Amino acid sequence: MANIQSLLIFSFSLPLLTIAFATLSLIFFFVLNQRRNAQHLPLSPPALPIIGHLHYLLKSPIHHTLDRLTTNYGPLLHLRCGSSVRIIAGSADLARELLKNHDAVFTNRPLTSVSRYVSNDRGFVVAPFGPYWLFMKRLYMTELLGSTTVAKLRPVRSAELRSMLRNILDKAQANEEVNLSKEILKLMNNEVTRMAASTASGSETEEVSELVKQFTEIVSSFNLEDYIGICRGMDLQGQGKRMRDVHTRFDRLLEGIMREKEVEKEQDKQREMKDFIDILLDVAANDNAEIKLSRESIKAFIRLLPFGSGMRGCPGITLAMKAVPVAVAALVQCFDWNVNGKVDMAEGIIGIVSMRVHQLILPVVPRLQPFPDIE
Ligand SMILES: *[C@@H]1O[C@H](CO)[C@@H](O)[C@H](O)[C@H]1NC(C)=O
Repeated sequence: MANIQSLLIFSFSLPLLTIAFATLSLIFFFVLNQRRNAQHLPLSPPALPIIGHLHYLLKSPIHHTLDRLTTNYGPLLHLRCGSSVRIIAGSADLARELLKNHDAVFTNRPLTSVSRYVSNDRGFVVAPFGPYWLFMKRLYMTELLGSTTVAKLRPVRSAELRSMLRNILDKAQANEEVNLSKEILKLMNNEVTRMAASTASGSETEEVSELVKQFTEIVSSFNLEDYIGICRGMDLQGQGKRMRDVHTRFDRLLEGIMREKEVEKEQDKQREMKDFIDILLDVAANDNAEIKLSRESIKAFIRLLPFGSGMRGCPGITLAMKAVPVAVAALVQCFDWNVNGKVDMAEGIIGIVSMRVHQLILPVVPRLQPFPDIE
């Protein structure tokens, strides 16, 4: 039982941890002007001509490669990737030093080619450090993902949790195995989507899930343009085009949801529970706000909940600390999970998210008789 429990926790936290880790590396990978800073750079492993250390970064999982490099060559390294230089910090102390004491230096994110294609959407993830970014960050921390809103939206999350438990119960009663990886992904996606837009339909949450998946894949895929200066703007691998497609579909979806809300508002319909879009629309309507939120900014807000550290710290941490333990507890309390053979914990990478290579597909039996009321 304890084993399964830690397994569950592992499979829950792994994607989150890895996103956090990848974002961390992104910050460490802070693109420096190579020529100007060459004399102050820390050590680096042997490099190849032209591509420099790029070949190290193409191997996945990348955090294993970085771990090996810092073990062999020391905790602070630089890697040259084509025409850009990245700094790797390989210990908690160094990470703290960079993210706390030198936070301001590392707050800007390198603007990648793909984010350039959609940079007019004023996203929070790559927005430069400044008044706009600070305003967005405060909105995230206090209005959207602060403990009050997170607590108010509890009914939304528990409805999704009950729906997952019902699904698993059906499978258990039909003696079918449960694809736990799938159930957990779906739960997380639905919880976040419905907290952003509580009125989203089933097909809308599914589309969001698909778009987020594509978005993450494109953002995190290797793009030659980011490393070889002369390729910039050529969109050789078609990521720019894919990004614009995803962007257009997201935009249409969010526009539809926002229109519905505006019509409701005009008809003076009141809902007692405000979701993220309601809150953002209120902020946009407030003429006294220090920064006027545009429609585009609202959509950019919803598009991707950012992870990071230091000043770029994940604003969703309160939410994660509430939602994850509750879901794990419910899965463990309501069901006995069994294992067919051995569980292979090998890691695979999907975009910047590290997932299990082998999905967790488990036989399950209800543990409680009678089963808790989840209708
Ligand atoms: C289990 O779920 C994952 C995630 O949705 C999916 O990629 C995989 O194909 C599923 N596996 C099976 C055997 O259904």
